[in-house]
Amino acid sequence: RIAYVNGRYVRHADAGVHIDDRGYQFADGVYEVCGIRGGKLMDEELHLARLQRSLAELRIASPMPLSALRQVLREVVRRNRVENGLVYFQVTRGVAPRDHPFPAGPVKPSLVITAKRLNMARIQQSAEKGVAVVTMPDLRWARRDIKSIALLPNILAKQAAREAGAYEAWLVDAEGYVTEGSSTNAWIVDKFGRLVTRSTGPEILSGITRTVLLETAKREGIEIVERPFTPDEAKSAREAFISASSAVIIPVVRIDDTAIGNGAPGSITLRLREAYAKVGV
Ligand code: PDD
Repeated sequence: RIAYVNGRYVRHADAGVHIDDRGYQFADGVYEVCGIRGGKLMDEELHLARLQRSLAELRIASPMPLSALRQVLREVVRRNRVENGLVYFQVTRGVAPRDHPFPAGPVKPSLVITAKRLNMARIQQSAEKGVAVVTMPDLRWARRDIKSIALLPNILAKQAAREAGAYEAWLVDAEGYVTEGSSTNAWIVDKFGRLVTRSTGPEILSGITRTVLLETAKREGIEIVERPFTPDEAKSAREAFISASSAVIIPVVRIDDTAIGNGAPGSITLRLREAYAKVGV
């Protein structure tokens, strides 16, 4: 495998950044994960736009012009011969002696890119069977719209979910509403057959898959409501699913100890999954 690190293509096994990188010291950086299908980046422009936004929110300089970044991303995918998989790209504020304020002088932001293949058969399997989620308190900061590399609450939630035998954690805010999953957006189909997901704002990451799914649902004539829902409403919903660039849509068939619908992936969920496969890329 080949990684891109600050201007160089290096063997993945040898790739590294300086110990004073602010990403390493402070999680002072942002990232994107973009799906690859048929060797092409899915929804690439939306990911690049979100990266630019995250950088601007944290006042981190862009590591290179967008046109150059597009080329480097393509090159990493090509060099790794990834047909179906993911490309990960991360930008941090750069390398400077450890000190909390932004470095005084001009610092070059660090850019790291990796690509990996995904086992599509395994993803297809979870899509056919559905997965379980467990609910837990959302312990994250108040700017979840920024795709920051600071993911401690997310990984703790995911780990707790896995230890509970579930695939994902659904995080619940102080008011008792589901925000999103630890690395996915959360969706239900309510008792009227409407597609429900939380509206965007500082409380959740505005998922690219979420954006494209909303467009897809509109085209399919599925009614959409962007509003928060509680774990209780989700447990009595007709269908539930999660979305992310990594696997697009995965049906949720159990929330905590409650089976959703008839315990199998729902029809609207599967229809959206089918329809998405035809757009994307
Ligand atoms: N996670 N919410 C959170 C907290 C996420 O971390 C992600 C993505 C999403 C879905 O966003 P998108 O559809 O743009 O992938 C929602 C990536 C895949 C990750 O951290 O690996």
